[in-house]
Amino acid sequence: MPHPPGSDVLVFFVNGRKVTERDVDPEVTLLTYLRRNLGLTGTKSACGGGSCGTCTVMLSRFDLASRKPRHIAVTACLVPLCSLHGAAVTTVEGVGSIRTRVHPVQERIAKSHGTQCGFCTPGMVMSLYALLRSHPQPSEEQLLEALAGNLCRCTGYRPILESGRTFCLDSASCGQHGARQCCLDQPGDGTCPPGRNGPQAHMCSELIPRTEFQPWDPTQEPIFPPELMRMAESPVQPSLTFRGDRVTWVSPGSLQELLALRARHPEAPLVLGNTALGPAQRSQGRVHPLLISPARIPELSTVTETSDGLTIGASCSLAQLQDILAKSISQLPVEKTQTLRALAKALRSVAGLQVRNLASLGGHVMSLHSYSDLNPILAVGQAALHLRSEGGARLISLDEHFLAGVVSASLQPGEILESVHIPHSQKWEFVFSFRQAQAPQNASPHVSAGMRVRFTEGTDTIEDLSIAYGGVGTTTVMAPQACQRLLGRHWTEETLDEACRLVLGEVTIPGAAPGGRVEFRRTLLVSFLFRFYLQVLQELKAHRFLKPPCTPRTLSDTWKYPQLPDQTLGALEDVPIMVPRGVQMYERVDPQQPPQDPVGRSIMHLSGLKHATGEAVFCDDLPRVDKELFMALVTSTRPHAKIVSVDPAEALRLPGVVAIVTAEDIPGTNGTEDDKLLAVDKVLCVGQVICAVVAETDVQARQATGSVRVTYEDLEPVVLSIQDAIGHSSFLCPEKKLELGNTEEAFEDVDHILEGEVHVGGQEHFYMETQRVLVIPKVEDQELDIYASTQDPAHMQKTVSSTLNVPLNRVTCHVKRVGGGFGGKQGRSAMLGAIAAVGAIKTGRPVRLVLDRDEDMLITGGRHPLFGKYKVGFMDSGRIKALDIQCYINGGCVLDYSELVIEFLILKLENAYKIRNLRFRGRACRTNLPSNTAFRGFGFPQGALVIESCITAVAAKCGLLPEKVREKNMYRTVDKTIYKQAFSPEPLHRCWAECLEQADVPGRRALADAFNRQSPWRKRGIAVVPMKFSVGFAATSYHQAAALVHIYTDGSVLVTHGGNELGQGIHTKMLQVASRELRVPLCRLHIQETSTATVPNTVTTAASVGADVNGRAVQNACQTLLKRLEPIMKKNPEGTWEAWVEAAFEQRISLSATGYFRGYKAFMDWEKGEGEPFPYCVFGAACSEVEIDCLTGAHRKLRTDIVMDAGCSLNPALDIGQVEGAFLQGAGLYTTEELHYSPEGALLSGGPEEYKIPTAADVPEKLNVTLLPSAQAQTGLTIYSSKGLGESGMFLGSSVFFAIQDAVAAARRDRGLAEDFTVPREDPGTCKPWSISVA
Ligand SMILES: Cc1cc2nc3c(=O)[nH]c(=O)nc-3n(C[C@H](O)[C@H](O)[C@H](O)COP(=O)(O)OP(=O)(O)OC[C@H]3O[C@@H](n4cnc5c(N)ncnc54)[C@H](O)[C@@H]3O)c2cc1C
Ligand code: FES
Ligand code: FES
Repeated sequence: MPHPPGSDVLVFFVNGRKVTERDVDPEVTLLTYLRRNLGLTGTKSACGGGSCGTCTVMLSRFDLASRKPRHIAVTACLVPLCSLHGAAVTTVEGVGSIRTRVHPVQERIAKSHGTQCGFCTPGMVMSLYALLRSHPQPSEEQLLEALAGNLCRCTGYRPILESGRTFCLDSASCGQHGARQCCLDQPGDGTCPPGRNGPQAHMCSELIPRTEFQPWDPTQEPIFPPELMRMAESPVQPSLTFRGDRVTWVSPGSLQELLALRARHPEAPLVLGNTALGPAQRSQGRVHPLLISPARIPELSTVTETSDGLTIGASCSLAQLQDILAKSISQLPVEKTQTLRALAKALRSVAGLQVRNLASLGGHVMSLHSYSDLNPILAVGQAALHLRSEGGARLISLDEHFLAGVVSASLQPGEILESVHIPHSQKWEFVFSFRQAQAPQNASPHVSAGMRVRFTEGTDTIEDLSIAYGGVGTTTVMAPQACQRLLGRHWTEETLDEACRLVLGEVTIPGAAPGGRVEFRRTLLVSFLFRFYLQVLQELKAHRFLKPPCTPRTLSDTWKYPQLPDQTLGALEDVPIMVPRGVQMYERVDPQQPPQDPVGRSIMHLSGLKHATGEAVFCDDLPRVDKELFMALVTSTRPHAKIVSVDPAEALRLPGVVAIVTAEDIPGTNGTEDDKLLAVDKVLCVGQVICAVVAETDVQARQATGSVRVTYEDLEPVVLSIQDAIGHSSFLCPEKKLELGNTEEAFEDVDHILEGEVHVGGQEHFYMETQRVLVIPKVEDQELDIYASTQDPAHMQKTVSSTLNVPLNRVTCHVKRVGGGFGGKQGRSAMLGAIAAVGAIKTGRPVRLVLDRDEDMLITGGRHPLFGKYKVGFMDSGRIKALDIQCYINGGCVLDYSELVIEFLILKLENAYKIRNLRFRGRACRTNLPSNTAFRGFGFPQGALVIESCITAVAAKCGLLPEKVREKNMYRTVDKTIYKQAFSPEPLHRCWAECLEQADVPGRRALADAFNRQSPWRKRGIAVVPMKFSVGFAATSYHQAAALVHIYTDGSVLVTHGGNELGQGIHTKMLQVASRELRVPLCRLHIQETSTATVPNTVTTAASVGADVNGRAVQNACQTLLKRLEPIMKKNPEGTWEAWVEAAFEQRISLSATGYFRGYKAFMDWEKGEGEPFPYCVFGAACSEVEIDCLTGAHRKLRTDIVMDAGCSLNPALDIGQVEGAFLQGAGLYTTEELHYSPEGALLSGGPEEYKIPTAADVPEKLNVTLLPSAQAQTGLTIYSSKGLGESGMFLGSSVFFAIQDAVAAARRDRGLAEDFTVPREDPGTCKPWSISVA
C-alpha cells in the first residue's frame, strides 16, 4: 500500500500479530486504531482523557539494560499511535477468549461477580493482567495501586478487588478472622461467621467458588516478539517520520538529530507521555503541525547517581521514577533521602498507575501544572535542570523564577530538558510533601505542598527554609519572603503562628480563582504548615538529631518534644488506603431444592465472562455499517437566550460534512411544547441541543460543530439555583403536599422546636458507557432499525415514531446491553435516538451518535439538587411530635420527570418513622440548567437526608444518641404510611436489630469515644440509619410485563422479555426463572436482546421492579409451554427434554408462547393525600464508622455493616452486587461528587478529572453485607417473593455522611463549639478544617 511521501512505516505488535502501518496519522490514538482499524472493540472508551481506565491495555517494550521485556498498563486513549514503533500491545482480546481459553484473570473477575454492566471490565482485566505480568504474586498494596486508575460505577469495587486478591501472596484469607485466617477455615460447613447463638446453618457466605478457579501459571504467558527484541538491539536507530493531513510526527534516532530538530522548530512541542499535551490539545482543539518525540533518545532516559544526588533523565516515566527513588532510599542514609522520600510519597498519589506509566518527569516539570504534586517538592529540594541545545549544555534552578515562567530563568529556544538533578538532603535538613484532593486516589490535589527546613547543626535554629504550594495559583507558588523572615527563628509554636501569618500574606488565592473552594484551600495552606511543624518536631525529637545536652535554649525545648506524641501524632499520619475485607451473607437455598434449580443461587452474571474477555458487544462496538455517517451535536453556549440565527454555511463547506440537521428537518413532532428535541427560537440552558452535524467520520462531525455559527440575544432572567428560582417564583409544576394530624397544634405542645436547612447537591449518573445510538434506515416501507444504549426502547421507538411521523410498527429498537443507566438512559436517550433518526432520514444513510463524556455530562442532566427546610417539635425524650418539611428540587429547564420525582420524594420522605403530625411539601424549580431527570432512588436519597438530618439535630439537642432517637420514632407495628397505605415494619426491625448487633454499635461507639479522647486531630464517628424504601412506579400502567419464549426443536430455548440488561443481571435472573419453570438447565437457555419487535409496548426498566414483573411474565410463558408439554412428558416419563420437544413438534404443539403479567394496581389521590401507590417496601439498615482528619477534611471509611431485606433473593450474588454498588454510589453522592457551574450556567465539572466518583480506595476497609433471611409470607406481586434491590442501597450511603457528622461533632465538642450544626452538602465548607482559624 502506498504511503505519504516522506512517511516511514510503523511496526508494532498487537496480541502477538505484527502490524505494519504505512499510513499513520499522528493525530490517531492507539484506542481509536484498535477499535476502528483493527476492530478490537474489547478496549472501551469512557472519557478520552486518561482518567477512567476503561481503555487500559498492556504495553511491552524490550529493556536493553535488564534484557527483559517491561510490561506496563497504559490508557490507550492517551497513547499516540506513532509512539508505538517497536512496542507490543496486548488488549483484552489477546489475554483470553471464550472461543479459545479464558485467562484466569478474566475467569476470576467474572466468577467473583466483579462485573455488572461490564463496560469497565476489560480495563480492570488489563490492569490486573499487566500487574501480574510484572509481579506474579503481587502484594495487596500493589493490587490497589494497579486498580487506582480504573473507575467502575456499578459494582462498588469490592468483588473486583476480591478477584484480584486471589492472586496476591496472602490470597486465601477473607480476613474476617485476622490475617491468614478465613471464615472458610472455621469449623462447620463453610458458613461464615458462626452465628452468635450457634452456627447460622441457614446462612451462607460463599459468593466466590474458589475451588473452581483455574490456576495461573506465569510461564504460559505469550513471549515477547523476537522481532521486536532484535529491533530494540539494533545499534542504529533511524529517525522516523510519520506524516498526516495536519500533523507530522518525528522521532529522531539520536540526540544530535533531536537538538537539530529542536533548533529548527523551537515552537514544536516534545511529546513524551502525551498526558499533558494530549488532553490539552483535545480540550482546546489545538493542532501542532509538528510533534517531536524524544522517547528513543537514550541520553534522556539515563539515571546517574553521584555523591551529591540523583540525576534522572527527562524521559523517565513517573512510574520508573518511583522505582528509582525506592532503590535509592533503600541504599542511602536517611538524612540524604529527605527529598527523595517526599517525592516517593507524593508519587503514590499522582494520577493512576496507567498515567504514571506514561507521564514523564520532563513532561511533568515542563507542563508547570498549577496542581503539580512534584514541582513543589523539586523546588524546595533545590532541584536543577540540565538543559541541552546545539549550542551546548547548561544548568538552571527549578526555582520560583522558573516556575513563574520568567524568560531568563527558563528554557531558551532550541533547548530541551535533558535531565533533572535532585540533590541529596543534608543532616539537619527535613523535607515533607502534602496533598489534599477530593478523593484519596486518582484525583489531582486541591492543594499540594513541598516544605524543607535546615537547622543549624545541633539546634532548632532555622538556617534555611523553603515552602512551595501547588493548586493555589496558575503554577507552583513559593513563599520566599516568608521563609526569609523566619530564618534564625526557633522551631516553636510562636514561629508556626508567624509562619502561618506570613504565608497567608504572601500566598494569596483570589476569590474567583479557578477550582473554587478558596476558603478551604487557604485553610489547607496553614494545615499543611502545621503538619510540617509537627513532623519536623517529631524528627527533632528523634535522638539522632537532637540529644541533650544542648544549649539551654534547645534543651528546654527538647523536654517539650517527648510530651508531644500520642495526643498530637495523629495529625502526622496520612490516611492509609486498604484493600477492603468483609463478609457477604445470605440465606442458603432449601437443601430439598433440586440441584439443577438455579433460583436462589449465586449464579454468575450471564455475560460475566464475555465482559471479561471483551467479547460482550456494546452499542458502539457494532461494526460500521455500509455508508454509515457520524452525528455530532451543536449545543447552546447561553443559559437563556433568543436564537437570532443559525448559520451552517461554513460547517457545510468542511470536508466530510454531509448535512446539518435542524428542527426544520423534523417531519413529525419536535418533542413537546416545552421540551424540544432541537431548539427553536430560544434556548433555555447551556447544553441544549440546537442542531446536529452529520459527517463521514466522527472527527469531521465534531470539528464541524464549532463552525456552525449561532447568534444569540441574551434573555433575562437567568435562574440557576434553587434560591434564585424561589426568588423568581420559577416552578415547573404545582406544589405537592401530604399532611397527617395537625402539625400546627402539635407544635404548641412540645418541649422543643428546632428549625434547620439541608442542602443536597446534584449528581451525575456517570454510567461508564455514555449515551449512544445507531440508526439504520431501511430501503422499504420507512422501516428503521435502532440499536441503542437505553433503559426504555419502547419510549425510544415512540419518540422516533412521532418525530418521523411514521407508525410504531416501522420502528424497531434493539438493546443488547447497556453500560450502566441508573435512570439516566430513559427520556434523554429517546431524544438522542430521535435526533439521530432525523439525520438518518435526511441523509438516507445510517447514522451513529456517540456522546463523549463532556457532552454527556453537559447535555443529559442528573440527580435533582435539593434544598430542604424543616421545623420539628419534640419532647425531651427525643420523641418527635410534629414535623414540617418543605423541599425544593432543582428540575432544570424543562419538566421531564421532575413532577414525578417531587411526588416520590414527598411520598417517601417519612422514611422509617411514625410521626403523628406531619406536613410535607415539595416543589420542583424551573431553572436555566439542563433538565435533571430520573436517577437511582428517584428523589428518596435527597429527601431522606432531610429527615435523617432532622433526627440527628433532635438527638444533639436532647443529648441522646442519634440511634436512640431513630429507634424511638420508628414504626413499631403494622401501621399506615403518611398516605395511609398499610404495611408491616417487621422486616425493618429485624434489619435494624441485626445491624446494631452485627456492627456492635455500643461497643464500637465506646472505642471511638476512647480514641477521640486521645486524638485531637483525628476523630471517629459512627452512624446507623434505617430505611423503608417503597418500590415501584406509582402508576398502574407501569406494573405490567410481557415475555416471549420459544423452544426450538433441538431443545434449546430462547427467552425474550421486556426488561433491559443494564448490568443489574436481569437476563441472568430471567433465565433462572425459566430454568426452574421449564426444568431445563441454564445452559440450554438463551437471551439475545430486548427488542420492540419481539416484546412490544414494554415499560422502562427502572424503579427496581424489572425482575419482579418480567420474571412473572417469563414464568407465565414457561408455564404455558410446560402445560402443553405435560401430556407428552406424562406419556414418556423417562424421556429426555429433547425427546419431549421433538414429540411436541411432531404432534403439532406450538413450542412458542407469550407470557404476560398484569401487576400491581397503584393509585394515589393527591387531593385526599391517600392511596396505595407502591406494591411493597424494601427495608434495610446500615452502620458506618469513619475517621476524619481535622486538618485536611479527609475521611477514612473504617467499616460499614449493611443488613438488607431482599425477600427471597433470586440470586444473592447479583442482589448483594446491587446493594454494594448502590451504597458506594450513595456514599459518592453524600461525600465526594460535586457538580460546579459557572455564573453563566456552564458546567465546569465536565469529566472524571473534575467530577470524582468513588474509586476502589473509597470502599470501607471492612464491608459486611447481609441479606436478611426471608420470613415474609409469599407475595404474588413479585416473582417467587423476591424483592427489587436496584435503588434502595443508594440511601444507605448516607450512613457515611452521618458518621462524618458524628466525628465532626466530636471535634466540635473538644473545641467547645455548638453541636447542633448541620453539614450542608452543597457547601464546600463540608470538608473545611475548622480547627485552625485562618481569618
Ligand atoms: C488523568 C491524569 C491525572 C493526572 N493527575 C495528576 C496528579 O494527581 N498530580 C500531578 O501532579 N499531575 C497529574 N497529572 C499530570 C501529569 O503528571 C502530567 O501530565 C505529566 O507528568 C506530563 O508528562 P508527559 O510526559 O505526559 O508530558 P507531555 O504531555 O508529553 O508533554 C508536556 C509538555 O512538556 C514539554 N516537554 C516534555 N518533555 C520535554 C523535554 N524533555 N524538554 C522540554 N520540554 C519538554 C512538551 O513540549 C509539552 O509541552 C495527571 C494527568 C492526567 C492525564
Ligand atoms: S477512555 Fe482512556 S482513560 Fe478513560
Ligand atoms: S461493571 Fe463496572 S462500570 Fe459497570
